[in-house]
Amino acid sequence: MLPSILSLLGLLLFALEANAIAIQPISRQTCQSTGTHCPPGTLVVSTTSKHASHKTIQSAINSLPDDESPQTILILEGTYTEQVNITRSGPVTLLGQTTSPKDASRNRVRINWAAGNRDNTGGIDNVFFSVMVVAPTLEASLTGTGPTGYPVPADTPFGNKDFRVYNVDFDNTWAEYSDGPAHALSLSRANGGFYHCGFYSYQDTVYIGKLGNAYFYESILAGQTDFLYGFGTAWIQSSALQLRGCGGGITAWKGTNTTIPNKYGAYIVDSSVRAANASIAADIKGACALGRPWNSQHRSIFARSYEDGSVDPRGYIDWVVDGVSRFEEGVTLMAEYRVHGPGVNETARVEGGVTSVLGQEEWEMYSTPQKVFGDTEWIDWEVVKEN
Ligand SMILES: *[C@@H]1O[C@H](CO)[C@@H](O)[C@H](O)[C@H]1NC(C)=O
Ligand SMILES: *[C@@H]1O[C@H](CO)[C@@H](O)[C@H](O)[C@H]1NC(C)=O
Ligand SMILES: *[C@@H]1O[C@H](CO)[C@@H](O)[C@H](O)[C@H]1NC(C)=O
Ligand SMILES: *[C@@H]1O[C@H](CO)[C@@H](O)[C@H](O)[C@H]1NC(C)=O
Repeated sequence: MLPSILSLLGLLLFALEANAIAIQPISRQTCQSTGTHCPPGTLVVSTTSKHASHKTIQSAINSLPDDESPQTILILEGTYTEQVNITRSGPVTLLGQTTSPKDASRNRVRINWAAGNRDNTGGIDNVFFSVMVVAPTLEASLTGTGPTGYPVPADTPFGNKDFRVYNVDFDNTWAEYSDGPAHALSLSRANGGFYHCGFYSYQDTVYIGKLGNAYFYESILAGQTDFLYGFGTAWIQSSALQLRGCGGGITAWKGTNTTIPNKYGAYIVDSSVRAANASIAADIKGACALGRPWNSQHRSIFARSYEDGSVDPRGYIDWVVDGVSRFEEGVTLMAEYRVHGPGVNETARVEGGVTSVLGQEEWEMYSTPQKVFGDTEWIDWEVVKEN
């Protein structure tokens, strides 16, 4: 009897150690719904509750020690009108209060900010208009201009190694149509996992910058123009892309030259692409391109996903600037793998000339988060496993 209990304990300890940062889903959900069973030292944010230690999310973040200790912030139900900026490298978890932890459409914590970049001379960077920024320095977070973007100094440190957010909506309320870049999220030189979150804006909603790694799970990403863009790597798993109009493409990725092979790109997997509602669906039938190449190294793949009738029958489109096509055969990868739904038209895809339909073998090299990110210890595999 005794040896088996001991070995069981050993296994338990091993499991705890292997997952030292992740909060077990049951405790996390209890923390989110009742405020109990939260990790020791959890900070509480609320604009109204007497039980809160902070009134703004940023003031809670600013109070965290500048070390490698894992830290958790519980945000109580409500709307927070502020910009959030996370530079800390130690693990940070943001928990939104909710009683429906598996349903992003019922989130009760919303961070909003209304700002869009109307400057198209490159004088003011898009980052200043973001609801949330995750990056070690200002320079690391700059989009910059042109196909290669801002030249981030090579000696810039890595930022947050393990940033996790559960059940929080990020809403850039600048305009109800595309009116310049208006980020809900900007993440560069950092690892971020977003579970049951929402990202709402119209243009350039989610920016994953250089050396940014972002994993989205059962989340909602809503936009109109180029609403997923950047230089880094985004894996969007079991999520809903909501079309609030059409413009440019859904994905406008740029590649980055590196001396090592990389898998930078946007991977939309087991997800859906749908008009945000029935009235907009009637306006955008067959009009939304899956993406366009911001530079010729664009890489994005829609895999095993549903596409409704809003999708342009050609799938992806080229981006021609001053008569020069950015699509480059053999370099640009704008692809689909086993997609389905009324938005899929094989004849029109071929006629369009820029969409690749991948076979199993071509998809294989990108087919898991491990393959595109390398290290994935910052992803909450407990949540992904649960379903
Ligand atoms: C984020 O905070 C860092 C550190 O305070 C600061 O240097 C940077 O400018 C901030 N980023 C933005 C976009 O304001
Ligand atoms: C990458 O390198 C190639 C070859 O040197 C060059 O043509 C291209 O413009 C570069 N692209 C970027 C985004 O730096
Ligand atoms: C449908 O979505 C569009 C785009 O976001 C929005 O402008 C409109 O108000 C929505 N209509 C309804 C009925 O929700
Ligand atoms: C598919 O695209 C082709 C070529 O553009 C078009 O002729 C055909 O009507 C489309 N099929 C459907 C079902 O829309």
